[in-house]
Amino acid sequence: MSAEEPTSQDSLPAAIDPAASRLIFLAMLGLVAGGLVAFRMLSRPAPPPPPEVARDALLSRGREIFLARCATCHGNEGRGDGPIARNLLGPPVGNLTDDQWKHGDRPDQVIAVIAQGVPNTRMEGWSRVLDPPELRAVAAYVYYLARRPVSEELRKP
Ligand code: HEC
Repeated sequence: MSAEEPTSQDSLPAAIDPAASRLIFLAMLGLVAGGLVAFRMLSRPAPPPPPEVARDALLSRGREIFLARCATCHGNEGRGDGPIARNLLGPPVGNLTDDQWKHGDRPDQVIAVIAQGVPNTRMEGWSRVLDPPELRAVAAYVYYLARRPVSEELRKP
């Protein structure tokens, strides 16, 4: 009989109902939380420390720092195969267990690399995050990972 009249539905402005927007917000929060949980589950858990590390306070501290700060790039064993290593721009992370270290193998050289980083690479300087005893501990752990003797210099209080 008559022409179709627009229903009131059609003339509603395209606004989001506050209840719906709350739901969307909660759903997004849920996604982020789910992502974090999945990330934690997927990232390989660190195995317990080997006895020679567990009984050495300096190496134990160094290991904690290494796993928390360095392993994402350097890998749990220092072989340069951390979860984000392949996605980095610039020079590759390198394998700390190789015979040769690019920036020298004296304790002061290793500490300098860790404290100041390497310009134009993704190796940042950690001196603002780690204090000198922490720098020595993580440097000692790098020697341990490379199966090199840990210099007494790094054990100085
Ligand atoms: C974001 C990634 C990233 C993180 C995190 C990182 N590094 Fe590095 N690191 C690199 C890269 C890339 C290089 C190679 C730099 C170059 O080519 O000179 C490097 C180089 C080094 C070197 C020099 C190796 C050599 O051959 O001389 C040492 C030692 C080192 N890192 C220790 C650490 C320690 C200890 C930490 C944690 C406190 C750490 N790195 C955290 C990326 C990273």
